[in-house]
Amino acid sequence: MSIPSSSPIPASVGATALRWAGVLWFIVAAVGQIAFIGFILAFYGVRTATGDFARWNDKPLIDGYIKGDDAGNIVFAAHVLLASVVTLGGLMQMIPAPRRKWPRLHRWTGRAFLVIAIFMALSGAWLAVVRGTYLSVISAVAILINGLLILIFAGLAWRHAIKRRFEQHRRWAMRTFMVVSGVWFLRVGLMGWIVVNQGPVGMTNDMSGPADVVLTFGSYLIPLAFLELYGAAERSGDGLRKALTAALIVVASAFTATGVFGTIAFMWGPYV
Ligand code: HEM
Repeated sequence: MSIPSSSPIPASVGATALRWAGVLWFIVAAVGQIAFIGFILAFYGVRTATGDFARWNDKPLIDGYIKGDDAGNIVFAAHVLLASVVTLGGLMQMIPAPRRKWPRLHRWTGRAFLVIAIFMALSGAWLAVVRGTYLSVISAVAILINGLLILIFAGLAWRHAIKRRFEQHRRWAMRTFMVVSGVWFLRVGLMGWIVVNQGPVGMTNDMSGPADVVLTFGSYLIPLAFLELYGAAERSGDGLRKALTAALIVVASAFTATGVFGTIAFMWGPYV
């Protein structure tokens, strides 16, 4: 028997709004992540395939190529090129229809996604700690925590899948998607902030300004918080709560779209 709700919005209406807000955000994110993949292939992919490694440094801030450091250059190449694969894999895992239609494909792409995600975290940590590639200590700490969360969440998603605890698996897989997307979120957050404020307010060149600090840690903590809000609203029977969460996700989608525009127009577009 269902308990009568005192909410001014019927739960079914709230649930529909919440689902569509989630779809809207995912479409915006998918466009942005496909642009990220396009940038990686057009910038790093082309330069690597043609042996033009020194031109990895054509962009400001990041010097991936260091003359004479063969091991570091190989790890950097593997890290950035597999970034395109892990991003595509994450997107594919999230789309429900193929997951239901081809569960075997989902399992194999899921295994590949988790293995590459683990490699991304370990190679990224190596680049930061051993090679010393980072802009500021704060940004290095933030990304190392991001890497640690990738390892923990990927491990839990995998374990729950093996034990056939699919609801738990779904939750940890979505959390893994969010932290694996942390690097992408950071770029979208930085550019969204710059576009909204029409300039780098609270930012410095070594990413240690107050806005930089909030965005570097926020690049995975804010999406994780939104995911938890979404899940709690999904499970709640309160239509108003669902509708308010849907409205929040629409606002987040607008900010994400602004950031996606910023990355394409100013961060990646000019270099491909
Ligand atoms: C799994 C998701 C990840 C993706 C998709 C990813 C992607 C990338 C990309 C595309 C670059 C090239 C930079 C650019 O041109 O914009 C890069 C560089 C780098 N990444 Fe990652 N990465 C991931 C995870 C990590 C983690 C977890 C760490 C650290 C623990 C890390 C550390 C680094 C470092 C140190 C560099 C060198 C350049 C810099 O200073 O940013 N990455 N990554």
